[in-house]
Amino acid sequence: MITKISVGKRNEKYDVLIGKEVCSKKNFQKFITKEQKILLLFDKNVPIKKIALIKKQLNSLGAKVYNYAITPGEQSKSIRNFENIHNFLSKNSFLRSDGIVACGGGVVGDLGGFVASTYMRGISYIQVPTTLLSQVDSSIGGKTAINLSSGKNLVGSFYNPKGVLIDTNFLDSLGEREYKSGLAEIIKHALIADRAFGNYLLQHSKNILKRDSDYLRHIITKSINIKAKIVTRDHKEQGIRAFLNFGHTIGHALEHAFKSKLLHGEAVAYGMDYEAKMSLKTLNLCQDDYDFVKEILKTYGFECKLNITFEKLKPFIKIDKKNSANTVNLVQLNKIGSCEMVPIKNINSLKKFF
Ligand SMILES: NC(=O)c1ccc[n+]([C@@H]2O[C@H](COP(=O)([O-])OP(=O)(O)OC[C@H]3O[C@@H](n4cnc5c(N)ncnc54)[C@H](O)[C@@H]3O)[C@@H](O)[C@H]2O)c1
Ligand SMILES: [Zn+2]
Repeated sequence: MITKISVGKRNEKYDVLIGKEVCSKKNFQKFITKEQKILLLFDKNVPIKKIALIKKQLNSLGAKVYNYAITPGEQSKSIRNFENIHNFLSKNSFLRSDGIVACGGGVVGDLGGFVASTYMRGISYIQVPTTLLSQVDSSIGGKTAINLSSGKNLVGSFYNPKGVLIDTNFLDSLGEREYKSGLAEIIKHALIADRAFGNYLLQHSKNILKRDSDYLRHIITKSINIKAKIVTRDHKEQGIRAFLNFGHTIGHALEHAFKSKLLHGEAVAYGMDYEAKMSLKTLNLCQDDYDFVKEILKTYGFECKLNITFEKLKPFIKIDKKNSANTVNLVQLNKIGSCEMVPIKNINSLKKFF
């Protein structure tokens, strides 16, 4: 079974297809034309058999496919790769009418999307996200980016793909920590927007942790529906899109403080724990709802036992992108399934939560 979700407004609209073996000839056909040249950008950790299969489907549609492998890791979202891929496209005479298929996690998706948005002022691209995090988060919403030596995601664009094919089969080869990191973003979507979905995640944790494909399709679909609704209403993050940053102010600070020891989703999970605790005070979140947050995090193995002081985190909390002059803007829960932005004028008032 395959689920379809439409994301974006009017002529910016694109379809997201979710299910097992969704990367079929029939589905690619919706997004590419026969004569197109396609750059198949892929992460070297994605099993090569799966890449070969995609290439076969694209070839059978009449497309001329060029493989381009990306070294795994955040450092690949670089200006150098950006330039190299542009040169590769140009040397192989890619035109405005040609396209890119980005097959990998958020790194390949962000890099491929940004190249697509700039080569000849924009060519089409298809996202084939292969990590759980990229399936429920980075492939949805049209944000693309690369990193500078001075910081992450500092150069980028808002550029929607032509389509997104989410094949749950890719998750078979994903490492356990990477898988759970994606689950943290799914939990976040439930906590900010849908209590019933939170209950589902609690009730079916065994099947979800076993990566049962039907449960996966369900939770990925639910999760994308939540993100899609938000990004369709607020594409350029001028308002409610910031709610997707629940857990991220403290999460990003933890990521910085622990350098590369924590995966993004792990840091966000612990960040949600701290930020839910803050919500008890800032928005009178009730104790039962806070316990719900703790329970769901515990169920998925995110019991926060970090040894960190507020003083260590403070410099990183201060540089959060949502901050405005001397004010930390925190996404806080007023109940499960609903949140608000809360300005914190005195950053030191957060000390008591650590
Ligand atoms: N554009 C957005 O809206 C957005 C949102 C969230 C995150 N991001 C970006 O996404 C990136 C993180 O994404 P990610 O967590 O997917 O990281 P990632 O792309 O680095 O992938 C994580 C790891 O999984 C490996 N991998 C990928 N697919 C695999 C598969 N099928 N089997 C086995 N291994 C596989 C990769 O090689 C890598 O080691 C960051 O750069 C972040 O800035 C972007
Ligand atoms: Zn995140």
